[in-house]
Amino acid sequence: QQLKLSLEQIEKGGYEHFMLKEIFEQPKSILDTMRGRLLVEEGIIKMAGIWDHQERLTNASRIIIIACGTSWHAGLIGEYLIEEFARIPVEVEYASEFRYRNPILSEKDVVIAISQSGETADTMAALKLAKERGAFIYGICNVVDSSIARITDAGSYTHAGPEIGVASTKAFTAQLTILSLIALKLGKHNGHLSNQEFMKLITELDQLPNKVQEVLDSTNEHVKEIAKNYIDATNFLYLGRGYNYPSALEGALKLKEISYIHAEGYPAAEMKHGPIALIDENMPIVIIAPKRGHYDKIVSNVQEIKARKGQVIAVVNDGDEQVASMADHVIEIPDTSECFSPIIAAVPLQLLSYYIAVYRGANVDQPRNLAKSVTVE
Ligand code: G6P
Repeated sequence: QQLKLSLEQIEKGGYEHFMLKEIFEQPKSILDTMRGRLLVEEGIIKMAGIWDHQERLTNASRIIIIACGTSWHAGLIGEYLIEEFARIPVEVEYASEFRYRNPILSEKDVVIAISQSGETADTMAALKLAKERGAFIYGICNVVDSSIARITDAGSYTHAGPEIGVASTKAFTAQLTILSLIALKLGKHNGHLSNQEFMKLITELDQLPNKVQEVLDSTNEHVKEIAKNYIDATNFLYLGRGYNYPSALEGALKLKEISYIHAEGYPAAEMKHGPIALIDENMPIVIIAPKRGHYDKIVSNVQEIKARKGQVIAVVNDGDEQVASMADHVIEIPDTSECFSPIIAAVPLQLLSYYIAVYRGANVDQPRNLAKSVTVE
């Protein structure tokens, strides 16, 4: 027992929990995901899985992304990325729904499965179905040689390293990194992305590990303080638009998973179609509002929330004034293109849920009723 404990402590590398260690590993894991693939000086993205099947992928009539949980949220951001840069229609489906609804599939379709473990039963079954119907199946997995990695026609590993905490953190940002690389590579190949734009975007992508380090250094203690105010909250709302609508979903999922506080993520503009009825002085609302998104629209959402006395925790860019002046708590993150902002915004949201859960005495690494890898239906 003692030996096991000390081994575990060594594995945690001085952090109190695996989850915190994995949150802090993200500058490195993102870099590992890009290593050997993103070659800024040569102006290329090198990915064997894509390169070998470039025509099949760029000529796809549509791409269907299937996944569960956090990986599904990464898929939603993948849809925005691939549609914006490669102009290929993308649908994102829960694997569990897709497999049982007799989906229309043809040989011109490409199905991308996203899975950290590569073992999720629903995702695996959905892929088998897609394969039977002749679609080209592509895997984005973290665990090397996992079942999904083996069944797919091609794929890209995320290389985030082992993720132990049940709530996914570094695997999520690695999935977003891979999806960014794929979208930019396909867009460059099929000509929808000009060379100039491509160069600008890959240069920004290359800066992400440093920016994620910056956000960890500048927000960790501050978020820990903010978390203290919300230990007794019973509900949370997370709002974002565009690329950061899925960030809101993922932020809410993280909080639910480890703190057991009920949380919902919503696209900010949908607030008026329901969630606004819940807002009063007891409702904390996390707003993800980097400047490059639909910033002005979010400003009016925040005004509506403050008029109803909701408590606003705003994730904004460094130096923000408008949203920041109305918010109860402000978390600043560095600026980047809107398409990459979910990678940076994920970090303080992970920390917020982590500290709230720790203050509540929850078992952060192994939350009740949840499993790291769901190999049964
Ligand atoms: C479980 C895990 C989640 C994960 C989901 C999908 O619910 O607790 O963290 O996002 O499964 O797992 P996968 O391994 O397919 O990404």
